Amino acid sequence: MTRPATSSKKSCGRCMPLFSSPIGRKWIVALTGIVLVLFVIGHLLGNLSIFAGPDAMNAYAAFLKSTGELLWVVRIVLLTCVVLHIWFTITLWRENLAARPQKYAVKNELGTTVYARLMRISGLTVLAFVLYHLAQFTWEAFNPEYKTWIDAQGRHDVYRMVVTAFECPFVSGFYILAVGLLGMHLSHGIASLFQTLGITTEKMRPVFEKGGLIVAWIIFLGFASIPTAVLLGLVKTSSTLPACPFCH
Ligand code: HEM
Repeated sequence: MTRPATSSKKSCGRCMPLFSSPIGRKWIVALTGIVLVLFVIGHLLGNLSIFAGPDAMNAYAAFLKSTGELLWVVRIVLLTCVVLHIWFTITLWRENLAARPQKYAVKNELGTTVYARLMRISGLTVLAFVLYHLAQFTWEAFNPEYKTWIDAQGRHDVYRMVVTAFECPFVSGFYILAVGLLGMHLSHGIASLFQTLGITTEKMRPVFEKGGLIVAWIIFLGFASIPTAVLLGLVKTSSTLPACPFCH
């Protein structure tokens, strides 16, 4: 016989109440989700500086680097949020499955939780995308020459790096697909985090759902506009480096 979710984890003196109750775990998922959404919005606003030209984007990137230790604090907070968000999502999901009789769990998986299943798939895809993205632009693992690209002011030429990468239709297509999945993840995630935090009332629920959808679409369109603009030749660079083996 399967035990109910609430009894599967007993609180102990050493555990904080937030970690030891299902409500607490939901709160952690919601609060870390808010931090990650705020990061995504901030990152989008910074990236849109590409439309103001190389100087604006490189100045923005140089400013971020100049924050030194603060940047590392933000990185550590973000990484902690990602780990907690994923860990407690999996924990809650497993508890939910364990709390239901087998027949109901299967029905639930196929029926009412299509959105939830989409959340897990889209969440994992976004995670895979972020790892690829870090390897590409932060660690510069695929094109180590990116590290040597310096603009006239002696700053890292992030503008040239991003535009060169997006000149490859495969890279751009992958980014558009990934930010589409991010949008799907957020369209449900934003509305449900307000519900978890108890801010939503029955009357306000459609407002939060619509709000979540609008924010998710803005985020999707904002990120997707960058590779799209490069592919359309609206944002250009004088770089001649082949962006990927498929293109040249
Ligand atoms: C068109 C879309 C995007 C572009 C052009 C872009 C651009 C960049 C660039 C240039 C960097 C490296 C900055 C530097 O080291 O100077 C970066 C870092 C990063 N990006 Fe993006 N990004 C995009 C989408 C995303 C999305 C959708 C996410 C998350 C879901 C994301 C998460 C990150 C993270 C976590 C970092 C590492 C930040 C750090 O160094 O601490 N990016 N991005």
